[in-house]
Amino acid sequence: MTDKNNEKIDKNKEEPGGLRVKPINNGTVIDHIAGGQALNVLKILGISGTTGATVSVVMNVESKKLGKKDIVKVEDRELREEELNRIALIAPAASINIIRNCRVIEKRPVDLPDEIVGVVRCQNPNCISNTHEPIKSRMLVKVKNPVLLRCLYCEQPLANGIAEYLI
Ligand SMILES: Nc1ncnc2c1ncn2[C@@H]1O[C@H](COP(=O)(O)OP(=O)(O)OP(=O)(O)O)[C@@H](O)[C@H]1O
Ligand SMILES: [Mg+2]
Ligand SMILES: [Zn+2]
Repeated sequence: MTDKNNEKIDKNKEEPGGLRVKPINNGTVIDHIAGGQALNVLKILGISGTTGATVSVVMNVESKKLGKKDIVKVEDRELREEELNRIALIAPAASINIIRNCRVIEKRPVDLPDEIVGVVRCQNPNCISNTHEPIKSRMLVKVKNPVLLRCLYCEQPLANGIAEYLI
């Protein structure tokens, strides 16, 4: 392989061999998603086969930080705070890259607030937040990465499989 090719590959370590899909002009790249979580990210964004959004998904590529990572690229869309919080729950190492005119103009990690209200269902079926009472779930964020939540009402912890408990 020529030096020039090696240099090109070096510059795109996270997507070996360069971008796997055509660059987008405007939109959001959610990078450093833990391998296997891309489909849950799409779910959070409300993207299904019928929504018509232009989306590229890269799954299980090598990452120095994460071992394997997924990447989701959504054209012509910037994400809301609430969507970012949900992504932080299932992909706490994710970085959000805003793309304008084909370039990354802003990059920031996702971050969780100290408490999340009405987003994650408590695992304890007897918890007051799971009864017919009009009480929204309230989860304290004990650890941000790997995520550890604790129900404010019954102290039930939640760490694994959080995607399944998203409301
Ligand atoms: N125009 C674009 N279209 C599609 N994807 C893009 C575009 N520009 C950048 N990306 C992707 O967005 C992510 C962030 O791009 P950047 O150039 O900042 O990479 P990086 O230097 O590896 O960043 P980091 O240090 O966050 O890993 C990468 O996955 C990159 O492939
Ligand atoms: Mg990178
Ligand atoms: Zn509870």
